[in-house]
Amino acid sequence: MMQPLVAYVNHAFVPLDEACVHIEDRGFQFADGVYEVIACFGGVYLDLMPHLQRLQRSCAAIAIDLPKPLRVLKSLVQQAYEKNPFEDAMVYIQVTRGVAPRAHVVDNVITPTLVITVRELPKPSEEKVHTGVKAITMRDIRWKHCEIKSIALLASVMGKQEAVKQGVDETFWLDEQGHVLEGCATNVFAIINGVLTTHPLDHQVLGGITRTMVMDVAKLAGIKVEERSWKLDEQGLSECMMSSTTNMVLPVCDVDGKAVGMGKPGRHTLNIRRMMLEKIDALRAHG
Ligand SMILES: Cc1ncc(COP(=O)(O)O)c(C=O)c1O
Repeated sequence: MMQPLVAYVNHAFVPLDEACVHIEDRGFQFADGVYEVIACFGGVYLDLMPHLQRLQRSCAAIAIDLPKPLRVLKSLVQQAYEKNPFEDAMVYIQVTRGVAPRAHVVDNVITPTLVITVRELPKPSEEKVHTGVKAITMRDIRWKHCEIKSIALLASVMGKQEAVKQGVDETFWLDEQGHVLEGCATNVFAIINGVLTTHPLDHQVLGGITRTMVMDVAKLAGIKVEERSWKLDEQGLSECMMSSTTNMVLPVCDVDGKAVGMGKPGRHTLNIRRMMLEKIDALRAHG
């Protein structure tokens, strides 16, 4: 058995059961904050700095001061992991603007709230890797700054809930023309005429850290990569996949009840996934 979980809340490590923030925290009142999710394999982080740098960009985008320098954040993440030493862990960091009487505008300077929690890394079942996952599509109902990793996730919660209600795993957001943007908590790719295709980075998608890894690995495997708008009914579309810190990459074999390609995980997807898992094994072995 693991010892009880420990969280970092505003300058102190406390038992998770006792960890709390004030009811006038602006994260609670306004979803006025940002977050990160980082995977740690056998005590070694996957892309820790890119995640912390994205946190820095998210904070800057909404004018919250990064609560600690990156170097200190890195050390706090490490301390949090040491207090919750799962073999494979998921570190959650949340920064909010801080506590102030509830009003849209904050008059005086307030201290940002910093929370770090660690849980066991949830992993997709082997079955999902072998059979592929299913998704549905919905018109994007989110705000126009999806490049910021905001804690305001109501639309994503609704999208995910609808997916679960329909017995599938994820909802893909479509723009007004029907292009696939991304999932509720994943980036989405297709193999179209042999080319790994994904929506370009703009205000409609989050720049996933795993998205970058998928593209890097694909290039190493000799697969051409193109960032452009794409649709699910394009000629030559043979595979679909989705990526995130917790899933790495998963084949998507059914969208809106229709089979994608041959209706089973494609060779490019499985190859990319295998190469990503090899990278993680190397991390585990050599740090
Ligand atoms: C909207 C959205 N897109 C993409 C991702 C994947 O990002 P990452 O690969 O950095 O986990 C997430 C992760 O939570 C997300 O919420």
